[in-house]
Amino acid sequence: MEKTMKTVETFDDLQEALLRLKRPLGFVPTMGYLHEGHLSLVKRAKQDCESVVVSIFANPAQFAPDEDLDSYPRDIERDLGLLRGVGTNLIWIPSVKTMYPEDFQTWINVEQVTKPLEGQVRNTHFRGVTTVVSKLFNAVRPDKSYFGQKDAQQAVVIKQMVRDLNYPIEIVICPIIRETDGLAMSSRNSYLNEGERQAALCLSRGLNTAKDAFQKGEKNADKIREIVARVVNEEQLAELQYVSCAHPETLEELGGEIESCLLSMAVFVGRTRLIDNIVLLQRET
Ligand code: PAJ
Repeated sequence: MEKTMKTVETFDDLQEALLRLKRPLGFVPTMGYLHEGHLSLVKRAKQDCESVVVSIFANPAQFAPDEDLDSYPRDIERDLGLLRGVGTNLIWIPSVKTMYPEDFQTWINVEQVTKPLEGQVRNTHFRGVTTVVSKLFNAVRPDKSYFGQKDAQQAVVIKQMVRDLNYPIEIVICPIIRETDGLAMSSRNSYLNEGERQAALCLSRGLNTAKDAFQKGEKNADKIREIVARVVNEEQLAELQYVSCAHPETLEELGGEIESCLLSMAVFVGRTRLIDNIVLLQRET
């Protein structure tokens, strides 16, 4: 694989390194502590593009004061090894000061699709995400950028931002990568102890139980939400924060009989907050 992987920190060094990369340029923004989910995005970018840039930045602006920014897992050396293994050309690891100098005061806000779901329980989260992704896009100026369906609402929000602000960037959404037992991969899974790790299976179990029912003919949105809630509530260590059966593009909550939906959820397992989702489609086999 790629032997000459370069790592840069400052904006100027990034610009200089970018001059040497062949286009089309693929870009994968991350917050580090990488796993196979992140690497699947890099591998896809590698297939589509001549060069691949990955950023690692645990973005303070998308964490609320009571969230886990300080304890967010970090292991840059390990990340670099993994990225080298999949042929990444350039890694940008900006400092907080580079991204948010003291007089920073401009924010990007996507107004509608940020409101429900994650936006409802994490008020300032998406303006942090869109602001940092916008800054990353402006700095890297990729042809394509890769995001995971794991963060389904984030994917919708970024696509909306790119349309609204005319970024000449193609957004590619990649499937959720799971552990063999079904748990969606997440940097936050490292917070789980053994009991919690078992309990965390209730997320994918809830989604799959609902999917089975949907495929057998259960098309009522309330019933589908109830199925997920029942499976999660059976798990002692888990506490359901929300379950949503929403329109996959507008993210509006659905009622009555549905043809398709984004079924998504947030669950506390102990103190760790996990999210997961599945898209239910009428004609899926
Ligand atoms: P982070 O949580 O590090 O995720 C980086 C990218 O990896 C996101 O697009 C996310 O959806 C994707 N990803 C995470 N787990 C995945 C999985 N199991 N399968 C497939 N893709 C997965 O998302 C962020 O960082 C930040 O909000 C960021 C976009 C970098 C802005 O700060």
